[in-house]
Amino acid sequence: MGRIVYVNGEYVDEAEAKISVFDRGFLFADAVYEVSSVLNGQLIDNNGHLTRLHRSLNELSLDAPASDAEIETAQKALIEKNNLKEGLVYLQVSRGAADRAFHFPENTPTSLVMFTQELNVINSPAAEKGLAIITVPDIRWGRRDIKTVQLLAPSLAKMAAKNAGADDAWMEENGYITEGSSNNAYIITQDGTIVTRHLGNEILAGITRKAIVRLADENNMKVEERLFTADEAKAAAEAFISSATTFVTAVVSLDGQQIGDGKPGPITQKLREFYIEEALASIQ
Ligand code: PDD
Repeated sequence: MGRIVYVNGEYVDEAEAKISVFDRGFLFADAVYEVSSVLNGQLIDNNGHLTRLHRSLNELSLDAPASDAEIETAQKALIEKNNLKEGLVYLQVSRGAADRAFHFPENTPTSLVMFTQELNVINSPAAEKGLAIITVPDIRWGRRDIKTVQLLAPSLAKMAAKNAGADDAWMEENGYITEGSSNNAYIITQDGTIVTRHLGNEILAGITRKAIVRLADENNMKVEERLFTADEAKAAAEAFISSATTFVTAVVSLDGQQIGDGKPGPITQKLREFYIEEALASIQ
C-alpha cells in the first residue's frame, strides 16, 4: 500500500485515487494550490496558507471546496494516516470536471485533492551548504500573486539550473529579480539591510516571507521592500530564499559568481534560526 491521499472527501490509496480527464486543473491549469510544511507531525503557519488560498480562489471566482475547518481536519487526518513527521501537505483546488470549453462551467463543484510528502525541512543539506543560483528570464503570466498550478515556467527554470550544474533559478524581468522559481528572493547589503522585492502582481506573497519580514523587524534588523538587480545581488554580503519547504536557505552564488564568502552568511543563519524557533514554539 502506498500513501493515503485525499480526493473530494475520500481517503484512498494513491494507486486508487482518480481525477477526471475533464478536470479543468488538468486541461486548463484552472486550479490553485497551497503547500504547508509539517514539523513533528504538525502543520506550520497553516492559517496563513488557508488565508492565501481564499485570496487565490476569490481572484479566479472559484468556490471554496470546503470550510477551513474541514480542510484543516482533512490535512491533519492525512498527516496521521501517513504517519508523517516532517515534510509537507499539498492541497489543490480545481474548477472541477466539465466538457472542454474555455468559459467557466456553471453548477460544477470545485474539486479538492491533498497529499503528503516527506522532506527533511530542518536538517536540510541545502541549507547547510547554500545554493548555487542562476538567473533566467521570468516568462510567467502577469498574475503571479495567484498561486495557480501553471508551473511549467518554474519547471523550465529549475531544469535550466540543473543543466547548468546549479541548484535553482531566480527569475528576472525588466532588469530586476522578481523571485525564485518556487520561493521568494532576498539579498543582504554590505550594510546589513535585508532587501526583498515589494509585493505586487509580479510575485507570490510568500507566507514564509511575511514571517521573515516580521521576525527581522522584531529583531531590529533593517528590511527594505524594493526592486534589486542581479548585479546588486552579486555584490551583496549575503543572499537567501524563503518558502514553506525551504524556510530560510542561503544562496552562495549567482550565475557562477560567489556571494560574500561563498558560505551561508550570519544574518541568513540567524533568520533561519528565528523562523525554526518560532515554528517549533507554535506547535508546543
Ligand atoms: N512554492 N514564490 C513562488 C513562485 C512560490 O512558488 C512559492 C512557494 C513562494 C514562497 O511562498 P511560501 O513562503 O508561502 O511557501 C514564493 C511552494 C513551496 C511550491 O510550489 O512548492
